[in-house]
Amino acid sequence: MKQIPRETIEEVRARNDISDVIGSYLSLKNAGTRFKALCPFHKEKSPSFTVSPDRQIYHCFGCGAGGDVIRFVQEYEKVDFMTALQMLADRAGMELSLEEGGEGAGADKRKLFQIHEGVAQFYQRILLEHESGEAGRTYLATRALKPETVKEFQIGFAPDRFDALEKWAQQKKIPFELMEQAGLMIKSDKGHGYYDRFRNRLMFPIRDEAGRVIGFSGRAIVKDEKSGKYVNSPETPLFHKSRVLFAIDKARRAMADSRTAIVCEGQIDAIRCHEAGLTNVVASQGTALTSDHARMIRRYADEVILVLDADAAGQKAALKSSAAFIAEELSVRVASLPAGEDPDSLVRDHGADALRSRVADAVSALDFLINVMSSQEDLKEEAGLMRTARAVQALIAHAPGAVQRDRMVQRAAERLGLATSALQRDMARKKERPAPDIPPEVSAVPVKHPGEEVALIQMLFLHPAEVMPVVADHLPPDYLTDPDCRLLLELMLEDPSALMDSIPADRPEAQRLAARIQVEEMKLRGKEASPAKAAQDIVMVLWRQVLTDRRAQIQPGDKDRMDLTLQLKRLDQGWEHAVDFLVV
Ligand code: CTP
Ligand code: MN
Repeated sequence: MKQIPRETIEEVRARNDISDVIGSYLSLKNAGTRFKALCPFHKEKSPSFTVSPDRQIYHCFGCGAGGDVIRFVQEYEKVDFMTALQMLADRAGMELSLEEGGEGAGADKRKLFQIHEGVAQFYQRILLEHESGEAGRTYLATRALKPETVKEFQIGFAPDRFDALEKWAQQKKIPFELMEQAGLMIKSDKGHGYYDRFRNRLMFPIRDEAGRVIGFSGRAIVKDEKSGKYVNSPETPLFHKSRVLFAIDKARRAMADSRTAIVCEGQIDAIRCHEAGLTNVVASQGTALTSDHARMIRRYADEVILVLDADAAGQKAALKSSAAFIAEELSVRVASLPAGEDPDSLVRDHGADALRSRVADAVSALDFLINVMSSQEDLKEEAGLMRTARAVQALIAHAPGAVQRDRMVQRAAERLGLATSALQRDMARKKERPAPDIPPEVSAVPVKHPGEEVALIQMLFLHPAEVMPVVADHLPPDYLTDPDCRLLLELMLEDPSALMDSIPADRPEAQRLAARIQVEEMKLRGKEASPAKAAQDIVMVLWRQVLTDRRAQIQPGDKDRMDLTLQLKRLDQGWEHAVDFLVV
């Protein structure tokens, strides 16, 4: 990850008030100095999600989610730190160049984003209102999409001419070289002119997870033998075919809620499903799915349902995609459609429930493979059975987890009439695959932190003047057993006032904990009224743990052991008796 100046991060934070930002996602209710809302990160009936504007943090008492405004955007939008930072910078109208690949490339990439956004608007204006959009409007009418859908997906029209973007770019003072880099214009072989890549096509903007336009897919509105039905953006700095999932920006909330993703082939299929209320649908744009796609989906869902054409090419694509997805620990099912239908036609003619019931009937990838094989092979013959078993073993071998593999072996054995041991023995001869590299996820279950350690951090935060001397002089930070508490302690020892700002982005649990200790009411431990005394008690508890552990390592009769026993005894007698050896 590129190093971002800390001042930049602080400025993004300062210019995005947390209650404004969260308020644009959730309905916040005023509760004194704080705001409350139903937590977006777990299911609940009464609000335990809290936003504290004076501390600029959020914390959920129910599930333990928490952090600053950047963390909220990361978790809500399911994006990485850089993307969240960029989104907040955009929101505040700040210019940032944070994209990977150095300053120059970053600045160019931002320009490419702006060009795409502008061109998407341009194409949509033509479709909706310009006279050169007439043919597009006529074609669009045959697809029977609602006007709101056309707006939501920002569908547009590239007019039937070679210079529509030339004029647009000139007016916007955008160099043609950049338009070419964006994949929107093509340099002519003859002469030195540029011309439009997309002509006389219905235009679908393709967006990344953060909703930014990164490319286009254009559908011909007339049958033309010379050019394909669809023309797509070429590979550009923004557009990488293997990492594009159409409608991911609109589907990811629903995917995360249901933990299931439905993947179909065409963008019109995805658009139709969204229009009909099936919102966890994305489209692969006709290509076979890759492990990049799988990793994108894996952040939101555990299960993928492939809805692909029932023809032979569709079956082959489904099997290839299944293997890539299984390798990323996704559970894969395949839904078959009635012959001659695609999700678009099925939903359009028979309603969303027709597709829902096909999705409900989807079979596991393994069953799908065996179904396909048994339609091609005679499983009663040894050769056919062996070919099928090999195909099955190859699919199972993609599964990195033993549990998933074992389940698949059992199912395959059952269906093929073989012993599981036979399938397993053959597979054991093949090399074990290393587990894929899956980024750690935000855990839904709150992490338990030791109560004393949390209380101490909390006291330090709320009463720095009284507690700091006790901790700084008497507690070595590594006496804390919990890594997150230890990090917070170290940061506060450095600068007690800048806690939230100094936690690294890759320590979300520490951010959650920091938000929690700031929002929770202070619970003073024991009967001690003074924070300093309470802190002393905890410091002694932590010393006692360390000394007890240390003593357990030493043989009876050793002199060091006797010293430790003495020190433990003095700890029992209280702070004044022990304080002279409690030194950092
Ligand atoms: N596709 C493509 N290039 C082609 C054909 C198809 O990129 N020459 C992609 C498009 O993303 C398309 C998807 O593959 O949406 C599925 O193709 P197909 O089933 O042929 O098209 P539909 O999505 O059904 O489109 P339509 O309903 O408009 O015919
Ligand atoms: Mn179609």
